[in-house]
Amino acid sequence: MRVLGIETSCDETAAAVVENGERILSNVVASQVRMHEKYGGVVPELASREHLKRIVPVVREACERAALGWEGIDGIAVTEGPGLVGSLLVGVVYGKALARALSKPLVGVNHLEGHVHSVLLYNKAERAEGAALLEAVLPAVALIVSGGHTCLVHVHSTASDGNQAFSYRRLGQTRDDAAGEAFDKVAKLLALGYPGGPVIDRLARHGDAARVEFGKVKMKGNPFDFSFSGLKTAVLYRVRGTPLADEAAARRSRREAAGPLAFEEVRKLCSPPTLDLVAGFQEAVVNDLVGRAFAAAESERVQTIFVSGGVAANSRLRERFAARAERGGYTIHFPSPALCTDNAAMIAAAGYFKLQNSERAGPTLTAHASLPLGT
Ligand code: KG4
Ligand code: ZN
Repeated sequence: MRVLGIETSCDETAAAVVENGERILSNVVASQVRMHEKYGGVVPELASREHLKRIVPVVREACERAALGWEGIDGIAVTEGPGLVGSLLVGVVYGKALARALSKPLVGVNHLEGHVHSVLLYNKAERAEGAALLEAVLPAVALIVSGGHTCLVHVHSTASDGNQAFSYRRLGQTRDDAAGEAFDKVAKLLALGYPGGPVIDRLARHGDAARVEFGKVKMKGNPFDFSFSGLKTAVLYRVRGTPLADEAAARRSRREAAGPLAFEEVRKLCSPPTLDLVAGFQEAVVNDLVGRAFAAAESERVQTIFVSGGVAANSRLRERFAARAERGGYTIHFPSPALCTDNAAMIAAAGYFKLQNSERAGPTLTAHASLPLGT
């Protein structure tokens, strides 16, 4: 069964064709990152307008790259939420119209479920030869960590009549900013560029995190909830009224005059104290994510942890997860960097299992800005 996936929840217009939930035939992502760069964040109105322009060519390209005409598509899966409602609507309305016109089955997919499936899909499509299939190690705790979301879910799979189904239980989520949002906001404050995660990841390698330590984030109530806005404010206090603020202002005016700066140029414009601050901030975020994810796995008595979403591309985070897993006998699974950030292959893969289990979306399918995953 070949499923066309459509994803427009934030600032990527994406379409992909995936066969049997495990073979990626095409995976097209049109990023709007350049457009939002000058605002230091996603502008919802611009995002939805851009999705409108890109959706038709992106879907067409996904079919062309998969060498398929419409008749080769057996079902359509579209992200219904959570995300920016104007952006989601473009994909939902287009998906519904396409399914109706082609008389193909349609299913709505939770974007967060897509991120969980990016790990499963990577494992099936690209895993190292001889490596065991993931189903053997479910249940797992999944950390989904991106610009829009930070949450922990318990993932379980069951099989009946040869069809695999997945169920989810919510363990915790952010009460304010998502981790990726904190990276983006700190990068904006320090005028490092957008998106903030990749540039901070690279700059942090030149700084010493031990020189700028931040306290642990304490959570009252659920220990698997997150909060990153305090950390962002702590960075602001360390910058305001100091030479670091003047340095950020200089980078900002350089960018305004010259446009987006290459990484090496940004690095040269950062003093050692700025690099240390960036490294310290990243370490605090990573500490928090590692700490809560492993605590959740321990409490759920599972040995497997999935980490997905844009922030899962972070090199320090991968290093720390791998080291902690080795010490504790856990197995960690990340998607490839291309499947970490938003894409439609993960939506097609998640949709495949729903279609196999006879789930169908009717004409009432619509966009949901907030849509929790699991019970
Ligand atoms: O999954 P994604 O493409 O979109 C959302 O669903 O939000 O994630 C984008 C987010 C951005 O906030 C970006 O700064 C962050 O992921 N990100 C990173 C890295 N690469 C992307 N954060 C930390 N380190 C990275 N290497
Ligand atoms: Zn995402």
